[in-house]
Amino acid sequence: MLKSSVLITLALFSAGSAMAEEGGIDLQSSGADITNTESLQRGARNFMNYCSGCHSLKYVRYNRMAVDLKISEAQLAGNLMFTGDKSFDTVNSAMPKDAEIWFGKQPPDLSLMARARGVDYIYSFLKGFYADKTRPWGVNNLYLPSAAMPHVLAEKQGLQKPIFKNEPDAHGSARMVLVGVAAMSPGALKPEEYDQLVRDIANFLDYAGEPVKEKRQSMGVFVMLFLLVFFVFAYLLKKEYWKDVH
Ligand code: HEC
Repeated sequence: MLKSSVLITLALFSAGSAMAEEGGIDLQSSGADITNTESLQRGARNFMNYCSGCHSLKYVRYNRMAVDLKISEAQLAGNLMFTGDKSFDTVNSAMPKDAEIWFGKQPPDLSLMARARGVDYIYSFLKGFYADKTRPWGVNNLYLPSAAMPHVLAEKQGLQKPIFKNEPDAHGSARMVLVGVAAMSPGALKPEEYDQLVRDIANFLDYAGEPVKEKRQSMGVFVMLFLLVFFVFAYLLKKEYWKDVH
């Protein structure tokens, strides 16, 4: 029993680290905070503006999101919903089913992306686009080699260039390896403003992946406190019961 659970833990652990190593570049820490409602509100608005054209959130309903993120019905209708959607609808993308013809790949639903790959991955991915003339959209991504997604926030971030390093392979022959990116031409936002923009989007997708996460965490603290208090009483009771036995 113990042995198998250790094995499972090890397997899960190695799966996790294998995922992080994909692409070979360390993820950047997003600093996203799911308890920050203002960040989630901005993230929701930005997601609707810049991402929902291609990506759906098929497990998120507008009205549930409005309650969780403390968004009024008026704001919801005015800023977040597209014509035709009802507040009890889930977040659909405007993308037709034949998007594959345009991108070579269907843009994935992002409801569970933060759970599958982590909030830091989304943050890093949105900061990882760099100019690459060999790709259909003129950009590639540090964290997803040959990414089929265009750099939709290029106007905000500006463009980055790749940094290569010469790392001889096992046989000693020269090999250029992509190790990072550097700013090439500025965008409309300052670097820290862009970081905030994508942090908010990543944060919102973390919420989308698990709408009860914030409640679960605060509930967890409450449960632990309760158990602690309960333990004290249980212990006192036990002492009381056993005091005459010996
Ligand atoms: C013009 C269409 C389009 C828009 C707009 C768009 N994406 Fe994408 N996105 C794609 C496509 C296509 C893929 C599939 C890429 C692949 O697998 O190579 C993708 C993939 C992704 C992935 C998955 C990456 C992975 O590792 O598989 C994430 C995360 C993502 N997009 C986030 C976003 C966010 C956040 C926004 C808004 C800022 C956004 N996308 C806007 C087309 C789009």
